[in-house]
Amino acid sequence: MTARFPAARPRRLRSSAALRDLVAETRLDVGRLVAPLFVREDIDTPQPIASLPGVVQHSRASLREEVSALADLGVRAVILFGVPAEKDAVGSGAFDPQGIVQVALRDLAADVGDEMVLIADLCVDEYTSHGHCGVLDGPAGDPHTSVDNDATLEIYGKIAVAQADAGAQVVAPSGMMDGQVGAIRAALDAAGHKSVAILAYAAKYASGLYGPFRDAVDCAIVGGGDRKAYQQDWRNAREALVEVQADIDEGADMVMVKPALAYLDVIAAVKATVNVPVAAYQVSGEYAMIKAAAANGWIDHDAIVGEHLTAIHRAGADVILTYFARWFAEAHAGRRSAAR
Ligand code: PBG
Repeated sequence: MTARFPAARPRRLRSSAALRDLVAETRLDVGRLVAPLFVREDIDTPQPIASLPGVVQHSRASLREEVSALADLGVRAVILFGVPAEKDAVGSGAFDPQGIVQVALRDLAADVGDEMVLIADLCVDEYTSHGHCGVLDGPAGDPHTSVDNDATLEIYGKIAVAQADAGAQVVAPSGMMDGQVGAIRAALDAAGHKSVAILAYAAKYASGLYGPFRDAVDCAIVGGGDRKAYQQDWRNAREALVEVQADIDEGADMVMVKPALAYLDVIAAVKATVNVPVAAYQVSGEYAMIKAAAANGWIDHDAIVGEHLTAIHRAGADVILTYFARWFAEAHAGRRSAAR
């Protein structure tokens, strides 16, 4: 008896790896990836981060080595996060010309120059003693205290200029303050940094998936608060388009959705709506879940990483920030075919 459906379309096109490669709609390449890197002030040896296996807090020297290695592997961009030795109420380490990220940017600009896009995360939560992304309008830990949006914008402007002065080609505001992109654009222009671009964390959700990142930057919110008053509510997708449009109107050159895998609908909606490059951040919790399950032998690490990154690209992300950037670059070095 002959089979009733011997080889129907589109199954005929799945019969060999070469044919599958030929017709694949989506192909991820290393040039789209951005490696997030942590650099900590006043350390000589890199420090492991328990909840992010394989990711470290770099010393100045180990950061330089890592970025040169990434450049050799074909990674084209990094985003830097600083871990200062001292924190204070306004996060002054973020805009101090001698602050850790500024020092690191000058190192890297000298090492890799135009070979690599140097992106600086622009926020103060790593630098504030209370752990919020802006300055507060009252005592830390008090339930009536909130972030003072406009006072924070002035600080963001100073950070942008300090980062650009130090060699950042792109600044990436992640604090979700209203008007942050406009304020930063104005500050950069006034300081003569007209060609420094802004990657806006435009649709950033108040996600539980940032937990390991807070370990990575030694950040805890005083009083156990959260960021739900300024980051987006994950029950809502449409307001992401309002946020994204506002950022573009204020001058964002690229817009980001964060986290990535649980927000593929948002990535797709943003991609369908805007005409600037769309980035997505596969955040620390997404990385940690894969690492933990793989360490238990419950999932196939390499297969899942390829699947997740490709799905994020398929949904519409032109650029992907991922802690797997180095893994991807190593796995695909010299391969004839990109991710499958
Ligand atoms: C804020 C910032 C955060 C992340 C990137 N920038 C933390 C937060 O908003 O709480 C999270 C990234 C990750 O989880 O990998 N400066």
